[in-house]
Amino acid sequence: MKRHLFINGQWKEAARYEALYSPYSGEWLADVGYANVAETDEAIGAAQAAAPIMAHMPAHERTTILYKVAGLLEQRKEELSRLVALEAAKPLKTARGELVRTIQTYKFAAMEASRIHGETVPLDAAPGGEGRIAFTQRKPLGVIAAITPFNFPFNLVAHKVGPAIAAGNTIVLKPAGQTPLSALMLAEIFQEAGLPNGALNVIPGPGSVVGEKLVSDSRVKAVTFTGSPAVGIALKNKAGLKRVTLELGSNSALIIDQAYELTDELISRCVLGAFSYSGQVCISIQRILVHVSHHDDFMLRFKAQVEKLVMGDPLEETTDVSALISERDVRRMQDWVDSAVSKGALVITGGKELNSRIYPPTILTNVAANEPVSCEEVFGPLVTVSSFTSLDQAINDVNQSRYGLQAGIYTNDIRAALHAAQQLEVGGVMINDFPTFRVDNMPYGGVKESGFGREGIRYAVEELTELKLISIKL
Ligand code: SIN
Repeated sequence: MKRHLFINGQWKEAARYEALYSPYSGEWLADVGYANVAETDEAIGAAQAAAPIMAHMPAHERTTILYKVAGLLEQRKEELSRLVALEAAKPLKTARGELVRTIQTYKFAAMEASRIHGETVPLDAAPGGEGRIAFTQRKPLGVIAAITPFNFPFNLVAHKVGPAIAAGNTIVLKPAGQTPLSALMLAEIFQEAGLPNGALNVIPGPGSVVGEKLVSDSRVKAVTFTGSPAVGIALKNKAGLKRVTLELGSNSALIIDQAYELTDELISRCVLGAFSYSGQVCISIQRILVHVSHHDDFMLRFKAQVEKLVMGDPLEETTDVSALISERDVRRMQDWVDSAVSKGALVITGGKELNSRIYPPTILTNVAANEPVSCEEVFGPLVTVSSFTSLDQAINDVNQSRYGLQAGIYTNDIRAALHAAQQLEVGGVMINDFPTFRVDNMPYGGVKESGFGREGIRYAVEELTELKLISIKL
C-alpha cells in the first residue's frame, strides 16, 4: 500500500516515501509519502487559497460537515479502531474507546460551530466612551498548522482539526511519523463529508522539514502542537507573532489521602490510569503518593491487580498492554529503571523488558526524586509509589516537578480537597478521581513545562480565533 500526500483535496504523489512498520510485529504496513519543503509550501498555499471560502462558510454548513464527519466515523468505527491498533500498537479495546471519544469530539465541534459569538461592551463605562454601541465578534485566523502526536492518532487530531474547522479556519496537518495512516484516513472522511478542497491538507514528514516550514511561513497564523517539551519550546521560539498552543508532557501525580477508604474502584482507577496504552498518555499516573496508613494495603492490592494485566498482540481482544511505540523507548525505560534501582529503588513488579518491543507494567518504590523515572516524563508503563504523613508534604512533592498538567487527589475531607486544589500547580485537579480523567469538552492544558493554551473544543476555538471590536457611534 502506498499512501500519498493529501493537498488541496487531491492525493498527490510525493517525491519521497518512507516505509511504516507495526510497532508490535514489525510487519510492513505501508509506504507513506513524506513531504519536502516544496510540498509543504504547496499545502500551505492550498490552505491559504481556501481560507476565504471557509471564513465565509455559514455556521450551519460547518456544523453539518462536522456532524457528517462524526457520522462517518461512527460507521467505520471498527475498521478505524483496528487501524489504530495496527499502527500505534494500541490494544483494540483501548483503541475502540478512542474512536468513541473522537466521534464525541467532532460532535462537540459541530455544536460549537453554531455558537461562536462575541459580546456587547459598555464603552460608556469610560468617560469619552458615551453614545456608542460596541460589540465583539470572533473571526477565524486563517491557516492553522496542526502537529499531532502518535498516542491518540484520531482524538488528538480531532482536538485540533475540529475546533479549527468549527471556527472557519483551514489546516495543514502534520501527523506523527508513526501514525500517519489514521490522519490520511481522516482526510478521506472530511472530503466525503463535503469539506472544500484545501481546507484540510495532511502531509506527513520530518519535523525538521515540514515542522520547520510550517512554523516559519508567514501565511500560517497559528501553530497548535502536542508533543515533547523540547520540540514545543523550540517551535515557540521560532514562531514569532504566530499564535502557539502547546500541549506538552507531564509526570502526573495522584495523592491518596488518609480520609479515603481504599475501595476496589480506586485500585482499578490506579491500574487504568497508570497502564492504559502502556502509560503513553500525557496524563498517565506516573507518581502515586499514598498516606502511610494505607500504604501496605494499597501496595498489596495494587500489585495483585497490575499482575493480572495481559500483555500481547494489540489486535487480541484480551490484551491490556502491548508494544511501546519504538524499541528505542523500551531501551530508554530499561536504562531509567536500572538507574533508579542502582540508587536504591525497589522493584515491586516488572522492571525488566519482556522483549525488545514490550515493557511490562512496572511498580517502583523508594525512588529518589531526582531519578528520571520520577522527574522526567516516562511515557511508558511505570508508576512510582511513595508514602506521606502530612498532606502539605505530599502537595509539595507533587509540585516539585517541571510539569503541571493534571493531578488527582482522593479524600473525603472537603477542606483537604479544596486546599490541595488551590495549592497544586497544574492545569486541572481531579478530586476523588485520577489525573488521567478527561472528557472532550473540558478545558485541558497545563502550566510550567506542560505548555500553555487550552484544548477542549470551546477553549480551542478561543485560541484559534481573533477577537474583533466593532463600535458604532450613534
Ligand atoms: C494526551 O495524551 O495529552 C491526551 C490524553 C487524553 O486525551 O486522554
